[in-house]
Amino acid sequence: MLRLKTSLLWLLVLVTAHVTEGAGRPRQRLKLSEDEELVWGSRDHTTSLRSRKTSSPETAAGPEPGDAAAAFKVPTLDGEFSYQPGAVRGSLVIHAFTNKSGFLECLWSSEASLFSLVQDLPERTQVLFVSLDESAVSDALWMREQLQRAAMHRKEVLSRLHFSPVPVFALGNWIPRVLYYWGCMGINCGLTQAVFTSEGWNMPVIVKRLDARYDWLMGRWGQGSYQLIDAGDGCDPSPSVAGAVAWVSEGRCSFFVKVQSMAKSNASGVLVYALPGNPIQDMNCVGEECYSPLRIPAAMVHLEPSVTQALLSAQKINVSFQTTPSPNFFIGIDQQGVLSEMGWFLYPTFSFINWQAQWFNFYADLQMKLENPVKNVSVFDKVQMQGQKGAVATVDLPLGLLDFDTLELDASLSCPGRRDVSCAPWDHTVQLFVCCDQLSPYCNMELGRWITAFRRGIGRWLTDVSPLIPLLDSNKCTFTMKTVPWAMPWIVSLNLRFSVSNQTGDRLRPFRVMSLFSGGTFDKNYNKRYQPIKFPVPASTKKVELFAVITGHGSDENGCGEFCVTSHHFLINAVFNNTHTFDSAGTALGCAMQVTGGAVPNEHGTWLYGRGGWCDGLQVNPWRTDITKQLDMTGFESNTVIYFGLFDGQDPNPSQQPGYIIMSSFLVFYK
Ligand SMILES: *[C@@H]1O[C@H](CO)[C@@H](O)[C@H](O)[C@H]1NC(C)=O
Ligand SMILES: *[C@@H]1O[C@H](CO)[C@@H](O)[C@H](O)[C@H]1NC(C)=O
Ligand SMILES: *[C@@H]1O[C@H](CO)[C@@H](O)[C@H](O)[C@H]1NC(C)=O
Ligand SMILES: *[C@@H]1O[C@H](CO)[C@@H](O)[C@H](O)[C@H]1NC(C)=O
Ligand SMILES: *[C@@H]1O[C@H](CO)[C@@H](O)[C@H](O)[C@H]1NC(C)=O
Ligand SMILES: *[C@@H]1O[C@H](CO)[C@@H](O)[C@H](O)[C@H]1NC(C)=O
Repeated sequence: MLRLKTSLLWLLVLVTAHVTEGAGRPRQRLKLSEDEELVWGSRDHTTSLRSRKTSSPETAAGPEPGDAAAAFKVPTLDGEFSYQPGAVRGSLVIHAFTNKSGFLECLWSSEASLFSLVQDLPERTQVLFVSLDESAVSDALWMREQLQRAAMHRKEVLSRLHFSPVPVFALGNWIPRVLYYWGCMGINCGLTQAVFTSEGWNMPVIVKRLDARYDWLMGRWGQGSYQLIDAGDGCDPSPSVAGAVAWVSEGRCSFFVKVQSMAKSNASGVLVYALPGNPIQDMNCVGEECYSPLRIPAAMVHLEPSVTQALLSAQKINVSFQTTPSPNFFIGIDQQGVLSEMGWFLYPTFSFINWQAQWFNFYADLQMKLENPVKNVSVFDKVQMQGQKGAVATVDLPLGLLDFDTLELDASLSCPGRRDVSCAPWDHTVQLFVCCDQLSPYCNMELGRWITAFRRGIGRWLTDVSPLIPLLDSNKCTFTMKTVPWAMPWIVSLNLRFSVSNQTGDRLRPFRVMSLFSGGTFDKNYNKRYQPIKFPVPASTKKVELFAVITGHGSDENGCGEFCVTSHHFLINAVFNNTHTFDSAGTALGCAMQVTGGAVPNEHGTWLYGRGGWCDGLQVNPWRTDITKQLDMTGFESNTVIYFGLFDGQDPNPSQQPGYIIMSSFLVFYK
């Protein structure tokens, strides 16, 4: 069985090289998740899950995510920060700094990172900064100075940033307990280190390191020890590094050129050291460089005099790589005063604080919306969804269904345990099917679709599916919600919210739907499978709408359909070309931009990239277009509709592993 083990996390890296012609092409996209399915059934794995279970809430010694945050006070550089449940209007993020982490050093040194915090911290959010170390006073002063400098043009934000000079181990409240008890798992958490050994030394020299950007290099450090060989600035090939880790200085050429020339020299990895006085940086490729895949790992460290010394005197040095567990660096408290994990910070930028805070705002607004009076029908209340069957429930619907013109799905996906580590690791499609009458043509049509988050259990979404009310053609309906049978379990809740959008005026209500096309394999025959559909408009129809839920999946050589730009066309009466294009598929932050709309942030995988019509941890928004004016409404003449899907404006024509489109599409008739 394939087993990839690093000290603290299970990683699977699937490579989807995305190369298309033309300007503005998206760079290659890696798909990465903290994977458990790969090692499913292995003894180690069972043990590790079991040990996690024993530390779950029943026997737990501390607050868990989802518990209420108790009041606390912390001295700050300006006086005191006091948290009283209910008194804070927005959310609060607590960040514990330690300069023992290369990731945190970079987070706090990178101008782009600092700037993102002062520029984009959502308005209702405050941040409390503390230090884990004895140096808390100077750390607090330094952190404040870093942010004051970055906030030159947005001073307002500084009033929401609080810096404590008291180290975490002296806080005397519950914060240390949560930081220690939650601990740190996964990417950029814990203390990643390089360990140098040499025969002449009594002790290993252990330094912090920051690995190159998670989605740039395809190599990962092995468990063993590598020889360390000096390769100057690493800008030119150097045959002596073959099989060893190259020790190279920052500067003269880009990180890419260094790693590329060392890879050409058959090095096993690259350690770039910062020049004296410089901080550790986030090593990454830039622009065109990102199209050349490199297959060795690399990391950045500080210059270590004893290492330089030993190399100068031709002493042999070995290096190995480890992660020492640490307290957590982040705690969130949402608008309702509930403790929350902050998820993975994939690379060193404060944007991850902003994204989590945006989500707190989204969630607070959602709570408000859920207080609107509606006819609320519970379908699933924390039901496990797993396997072929999924989650199934038969429920009674309210009488007089046709009086309602609005139906929203209130769905949430949480995990078997209270921590994100108990959540399923992969992003899978979840579909909700409904059948109210076995004999009805509407039986088992799709009512809603979501994509699961990579290992985060906070998602909750409200999806307007009003046009599909006619699918509920009886007062007792069976709902089935499921994902792929091999996915680890999710805990689902689903409420149907029926309401009337408009108390006055002529309300148009959907009274009939007609199922159109579904998707399929996105290959050269994709469009050959579709035939025009003829339809008359039923009498007394006032409006006709096209309603489609379309998502692209899989990965051919162009990244289709997950990471390529596909367009979907519904041609009405051979003239009207109704087009839906997934413009943000493959973009670096396409899905990060959807956090304000409810996409789960900071997932344990590559959730940031734009996708073909979807995001991880989000509902799939139905696409709706009014086509009334494109139709012959007399009811005598037949209208036609034909669908086709294109990649880059052309029929798809992949040479390998074609992707696929999942689609349900309807015409909706209103009167
Ligand atoms: C963090 O550590 C690096 C070297 O390890 C040092 O150069 C830097 O000044 C330290 N920063 C702070 C704020 O202590
Ligand atoms: C260095 O690593 C090699 C394997 O790469 C190993 O054989 C050797 O014993 C190591 N030496 C030290 C001093 O750790
Ligand atoms: C790297 O390894 C390859 C394959 O073993 C070999 O052909 C090539 O000459 C090596 N390059 C260097 C610079 O050692
Ligand atoms: C809807 O009803 C279910 C059970 O009937 C309940 O658990 C849930 O809280 C209700 N939701 C709202 C927003 O009232
Ligand atoms: C709500 O009512 C107004 C007239 O009062 C009407 O113009 C509008 O179309 C209605 N909206 C819906 C969604 O029915
Ligand atoms: C519909 O529009 C797309 C691009 O917007 C175009 O590629 C396609 O040829 C058009 N089809 C027809 C039949 O007009």
